[in-house]
Amino acid sequence: MREYYIAGNWKMNNTASQAREFAEALVDELKDASAKMMIAPPFTALESVSSIVRGTNIVLGAQNMSHKEYGAYTGDISPEMLLDLDVAAVILGHSERRIVFGETDELINEKIKLALSKGLEVVFCIGETLDEREAGKVESVVRTQVTKGLSGVDEGSLKHVTIAYEPVWAIGTGRTATPEDANNVHQFVRSLIKELYSADASDRMVIQYGGSVKPDNVKELLDQSDIDGALVGGASLDLESFRAIALCKN
Ligand code: 13P
Repeated sequence: MREYYIAGNWKMNNTASQAREFAEALVDELKDASAKMMIAPPFTALESVSSIVRGTNIVLGAQNMSHKEYGAYTGDISPEMLLDLDVAAVILGHSERRIVFGETDELINEKIKLALSKGLEVVFCIGETLDEREAGKVESVVRTQVTKGLSGVDEGSLKHVTIAYEPVWAIGTGRTATPEDANNVHQFVRSLIKELYSADASDRMVIQYGGSVKPDNVKELLDQSDIDGALVGGASLDLESFRAIALCKN
């Protein structure tokens, strides 16, 4: 039985002091949630949030990470810097990193392998653009992203990977994939994991959906057979909304 996994990607929102206050409220509001939960504040707020979520049922995540361990990489953050703040998970391959910052499947693959080798859990994002969907390319795009992103990742390490399917056209737009459409892609991703690894790995793989997840649509998404959680952007910045999402399967 796969565990429900709800994650909040705060993106470029909340200063360190705002984050501290919000995290304190979250710890209190989410203490009875049965799902696994993660929040990913911006880098500058990780330290303040770390001391607040330590010892609670909320996992601390980062939104990105360097593909290198250390050195002359201006502006980058290494895995060790994250681990030093008790960060346990990292979101990699987000479409905003791919599209706005030009991250390639190859770069994302380097980051995934480095994160796993350092003991970080990875939330690996994939998803097609509207043009790709309209051109009937959803499966080929997702196949390429998954295959290249996980290249060289062995089945043991795969246990520390969650896949987040986030159709780009549904992110921040208020447009959500229908639960059936999303589930179809999730089933395709699961079949791909079976093809690349094994039936066991495929059964175990937690696949989150992301893209305009809100309290009023989360339940029908999570009721689908292959949707195991949510990666939430905008609604994770509002206490009541994130609480309702996190507790929807209690
Ligand atoms: P929204 O929930 O704001 O659409 O963002 C989704 C997302 O990109 C989470 O990583």
